Amino acid sequence: MRILFTGGSGKAGKHCIDYLLAQGHTLLNLDQVELGHPRVLTRLADITDAGQVFDVMASYAHYDELETGAGVPSFDAVVHFAAVPRLLMTSDNECYRVNTMGTYNVIDAAIKMGIKKVIFASSETTYAVCFADGELKPEYLPIDEEHPTVPQDSYAMSKVVNEATAKCFQRRSGIDIYGLRINNVIEPHEYEANFPAYMENPDLRRRNIFSYIDARDLGQMVQKCLETDGLGYEVFNVSNDDHSVNLSSQDIIDRYYQGVPIKTPNVPDSFYSNEKAKRMLGYQPQHAWRDYLT
Ligand SMILES: NC(=O)c1ccc[n+]([C@@H]2O[C@H](COP(=O)([O-])OP(=O)(O)OC[C@H]3O[C@@H](n4cnc5c(N)ncnc54)[C@H](O)[C@@H]3O)[C@@H](O)[C@H]2O)c1
Repeated sequence: MRILFTGGSGKAGKHCIDYLLAQGHTLLNLDQVELGHPRVLTRLADITDAGQVFDVMASYAHYDELETGAGVPSFDAVVHFAAVPRLLMTSDNECYRVNTMGTYNVIDAAIKMGIKKVIFASSETTYAVCFADGELKPEYLPIDEEHPTVPQDSYAMSKVVNEATAKCFQRRSGIDIYGLRINNVIEPHEYEANFPAYMENPDLRRRNIFSYIDARDLGQMVQKCLETDGLGYEVFNVSNDDHSVNLSSQDIIDRYYQGVPIKTPNVPDSFYSNEKAKRMLGYQPQHAWRDYLT
């Protein structure tokens, strides 16, 4: 497929781009900074500027495409990751503005350019636990896509608004728009760099509901979304099968989740359910921290 990827120069995007290239796709990156990839061009553009978004949406992906003499080919899909990716980076209102207007512009342009699939990065933070003031427990466990999304911070609020925007655009257009409620993204080098501290102090993972997602598995999730047509609007949790700490589920319940209702018949293997992605898309994470740490 020919894919426009926004935010591909960032932490998650660069691994997803590598994964998608390995599947044989052609990619163009839209970002404010260069990706510096030998096989992927970056068009420097701002997603909050609708004109720039439309322009890049009608772009050659590579110099080779000039050779056909047939004009600019159209994109088959848009993967939209560009964002202010957490709170405490910009002012709260700037985070909200960039993320909400940027997402509006990207989906609006994709539909008006006739592109039939948009996959966009939402976030675990929509479930409110991550950036709550003080400790907020989930309403039930494991957290699935039915769990309420009423966060307190502007970043997570922007992601909830983006999901509503995407749902409305899907209703109007009938195209496929899939939102990914991504858990904490871990790059391959971060197992050795960060996980020993998580083993020492599991409190560090409470705000992530003790979960995580390998950046390469996030690439697989995007690929599964590209392969699966006809779902309309859907949101999917994206996570590993395991916790990011070396405690059993029962240990975690005893230490952190006493009194929180458990929705499944048995104690679940993780508290951030990826069951929907497995069931509807055939997603199956491949990279676990236990493979990288002794
Ligand atoms: N990293 C995580 O743990 C995590 C978890 C859940 C969701 N997400 C979401 O996944 C996506 C990618 O996150 P990341 O960690 O790779 O973030 P990142 O900051 O590393 O990458 C985001 C990219 O977007 C670009 N960008 C920002 N504003 C832009 C604009 N106005 N126009 C064009 N490009 C712009 C940045 O230059 C950057 O390259 C984001 O939407 C983020 O909210 C990330």
